[in-house]
Amino acid sequence: MATIKSYAAEDLADINTPLLYDYWYVAGLADEFTRALRERTILNRSLVLYRDENGNPIALQNRCAHRSFPLDQSTLEEGGIRCRYHGIKYNHDGKIIDVPCQDKCPRTGIKKYKTKEIGPLVWVWMGDYADADEADIPELPVHDMNKWTHVVGKYNYMEGSYILLHENLCDLSHLPFLHASTFKFPKEYTAAPIRVEQHGNQVTFYRQLEDWNMLKPFFHPKLDFGNQKVLYKSGGKYVSPATNKGYGLLIPLDESGNEQPAVGHYVNHYLTPESERSCHYFWFIARNYALDDKDYSKKQGEMVQAGFDEDVYAIKLLQAMFERDQHDYREIGIKADKPGVIMRKIVKSLAGA
Ligand code: FES
Ligand SMILES: [Fe+2]
Repeated sequence: MATIKSYAAEDLADINTPLLYDYWYVAGLADEFTRALRERTILNRSLVLYRDENGNPIALQNRCAHRSFPLDQSTLEEGGIRCRYHGIKYNHDGKIIDVPCQDKCPRTGIKKYKTKEIGPLVWVWMGDYADADEADIPELPVHDMNKWTHVVGKYNYMEGSYILLHENLCDLSHLPFLHASTFKFPKEYTAAPIRVEQHGNQVTFYRQLEDWNMLKPFFHPKLDFGNQKVLYKSGGKYVSPATNKGYGLLIPLDESGNEQPAVGHYVNHYLTPESERSCHYFWFIARNYALDDKDYSKKQGEMVQAGFDEDVYAIKLLQAMFERDQHDYREIGIKADKPGVIMRKIVKSLAGA
């Protein structure tokens, strides 16, 4: 069990903490990787993203090795990209394979990044190619995609440090307030204690309500448990600098009070810093009921996006305040901050390492 009896501000990651390169991040949704070139800046590095002729997702340095022309503004040919400025061609490994005005190709090419497509996401390892280990990719929330229906969404760009977004995602106390008009959490939700545990460099947190009826607006209108007692458990997990997993689960109890298989949602968040003060934000919801209800998927996606818009709005305001205001300032802490404080300690120690 984690304890955070005292901590100094300098022990916590903040908007100025250096970014972490030796991790897998979500480079984009799988359907963003096509035979058209797309630019995305990740951890201050401009990448060009596309698929090769065999459908493999490719991520290369987006900067021509000759005079820095952006390759996403160039031409994707059979076998690679030809720079639009002076025509140098790179293969899918970033090696130079043609220089139109001379016979010999320089041996210096552009950097290639390791990618891995899993379900609706494409991951990229931002450290050295040789150090990439696919076993380090955070798991999807569900193992058998066929038993779950998923809805995905994204913010191509949002202003604000990914640390502020992680803190928001570790924070169950803002739900009834910032999301008062969208998620409409009842007051009882705020009063329920938050359980927090740290396991290595990860933090789990949740709270539980004894009666799910007050949360009904979150679920499919036809979901009905009759007179059965149903618990509502909501929480999340800070998994890695790139991932924060949330969930809202209904747990029916049988007559003896034993927990039955849960019904509900996993809400995964993928945070990909663009720079120290901006990110890309992808999300993924999986539910294990009303699997074929496409109208509901659309409605659920819109409801969730409306709520996340409020988080994105708040984080932009926080970032602007940090950058603009010159008051002497020291954050106060409240009990509910605990998961976020532990996450910030972890990220700070990773950055130090
Ligand atoms: S800048 Fe790309 S070939 Fe010259
Ligand atoms: Fe939120």
